Amino acid sequence: MIKAANKAVNQADFMLMKQQGKKIAMITAYDYATAKCVAATEMDIILVGDSLGMVVLGYEDTLQVKMEDIISHAAAVRRGAPEAFIIADMPYLSYHLGDEAAKANAAALIVKGKANAVKLEGGSASRLAAIRAIVDIEIPVCAHLGLTPQSVHRFGGYKVQGKSPEEHEELLVQAQEVQRAGAFMLVLEGIPEQLGKEISEALSIPTIGIGAGRFTDGQVLVYHDLLGYNAQLPKFVKRYAELQKLSSEAIQAYLQEVKDGIFPSQEHTYYPIDKL
Ligand code: KIV
Repeated sequence: MIKAANKAVNQADFMLMKQQGKKIAMITAYDYATAKCVAATEMDIILVGDSLGMVVLGYEDTLQVKMEDIISHAAAVRRGAPEAFIIADMPYLSYHLGDEAAKANAAALIVKGKANAVKLEGGSASRLAAIRAIVDIEIPVCAHLGLTPQSVHRFGGYKVQGKSPEEHEELLVQAQEVQRAGAFMLVLEGIPEQLGKEISEALSIPTIGIGAGRFTDGQVLVYHDLLGYNAQLPKFVKRYAELQKLSSEAIQAYLQEVKDGIFPSQEHTYYPIDKL
């Protein structure tokens, strides 16, 4: 039996969950209908990720996603999940061009997108400055390190990060720096399990893994991946349903009934002829 979450959570609750060893569950959602499905569960966090660009808008990568996209999808998710803790992704170039622009864009995701917090990728000096600037205007920031999809061209593809001893050390240091900059949470994507474990043990803020192994403080998956909407999936995804197949079968059944004159039957006729 699914128990709906009716809780108003905040960043302090997630810290407490880490301290108590309670795992944190996060899922992406991008619209009103899917947000309602998530809101009917006890999910801890909804992420309006810029994976929106790939799984909903059909782009090759996440770099095409714009502020307007995240704002309108986050607002739709909020309408479907009024009580949820929602993190909205800051799109590519929305926090790279100076701290004033980063603050204004983060504020728009909170004010217009109705999110509780924002997420941004990377741990370089300018990303740390952006985190500090956004936290300074009282907006909670979730950091994101490892295989950060907005850096796909620099990485030369979607490749696991942090495998060499140098990269391992660099990510460990960056994780501590994003925490020091004020991030309340850290998403770790596409890194070796050992590194996910070391970072999670080293930080006081919770870590949320995706392709980062078993030892992070929580996990995040993309809605469409776990529900079977994508044919090609990375190894770390577990499919919990085959909704694309189910949807196509239902749509095929509908079209066949239209062709065969079975739908609509009298039962589905708003005002049947024999009622006149
Ligand atoms: O955009 C997204 O969905 C994400 C998750 C994969 C962490 O950033």
